[in-house]
Amino acid sequence: MLPWPVDTVPLMLAPMQGVTNRAMRQVQVQIGQPDLVFTEFVRVRQATHHRISRSDRRESAAQIPVHSSLPAPPPLVVQLIGHTSTALAEAAQLVQDQGVQHVNLNMGCPFGRTTSGKTGGSMLLEPELIPECVFAIRHVFSGTFSIKIRAGYADHEQIFGLLPIFADAGVDFLILHPRTVEQKYTGRADHEITRRVVAVSKIPIIANGDVVCAEQGRQLLKRSGAAGLMLGRGAIADPLLFQRIRGLAPATVSAEQFKRDTCTYLEQVLAAYRELFCGDQQVLGKLKAVVACMEDQRLQQWLRRLRRSRNLDAFAAEIK
Ligand SMILES: Cc1cc2nc3c(=O)[nH]c(=O)nc-3n(C[C@H](O)[C@H](O)[C@H](O)COP(=O)(O)O)c2cc1C
Repeated sequence: MLPWPVDTVPLMLAPMQGVTNRAMRQVQVQIGQPDLVFTEFVRVRQATHHRISRSDRRESAAQIPVHSSLPAPPPLVVQLIGHTSTALAEAAQLVQDQGVQHVNLNMGCPFGRTTSGKTGGSMLLEPELIPECVFAIRHVFSGTFSIKIRAGYADHEQIFGLLPIFADAGVDFLILHPRTVEQKYTGRADHEITRRVVAVSKIPIIANGDVVCAEQGRQLLKRSGAAGLMLGRGAIADPLLFQRIRGLAPATVSAEQFKRDTCTYLEQVLAAYRELFCGDQQVLGKLKAVVACMEDQRLQQWLRRLRRSRNLDAFAAEIK
């Protein structure tokens, strides 16, 4: 079972902690219309009575309101980060009981905890524990179950040894970010690995990493044969990237046009963040996390001014 129609190539908004909150997801849906959206990671606690915090439960239940120009909001995937099969299965059960239909396990975050138990990308340090966790989630969760993973912890080839486990467990699809955990965000995502993984995987592979323009997205789909794409920083910098890749918006635009579009986008985000977050400083901090993803060389001076804004009024004046 897949959360996208057969014979379509889904373009997904990546989970990004501190960025893809429900307000951002809604703005992205209005502008770029991703086919699937993910929550920021939801931390699975070891405390047996409260596996997921109240605010995370609210966040994972937050469906996107229907937008007038869309037939239906895109499916929302709740991403879990944690460890031990018991805790992960109980958390999956908990979100399922809340009505969640799509769950994802984070096996890629390079900032996962390593001391109190290996979570995120650190799960790849204890590969012998992975089958138990994956089978346990699959056992309790009847909706779609996907995994987001790096190529390996230190070794780019580690993923090849894990593919049979995911296929045997009945994982529905895999999102691959082909850097190692140790690399964090340095170097480039090596999509030759994506191509090789697609060639041998029995389950659909979604390619993720370093796509910032339409041409890169299309080339990656063509060269890797991936079933779809997941966009992170590229979409946060330019939500129209989904539509550009589909050919439903111009692949490139002039610097002036791009600045105008970015101002409109940031105004929408600002208005939504004022409703979701408390106080100017928090709103400003969250907006700066968005601007941190913007790297257009043509707008460097303006972007620097946005990043250095001392207060929300100064930021708002720059995007007027
Ligand atoms: C600020 C930030 C927060 C992120 N948070 C998450 C997260 O919560 N869960 C996750 O699986 N990946 C997370 N990632 C990784 C992204 O989902 C994505 O895999 C990565 O940025 C590479 O894709 P991109 O080059 O399209 O941005 C995060 C990345 C960034 C930059």
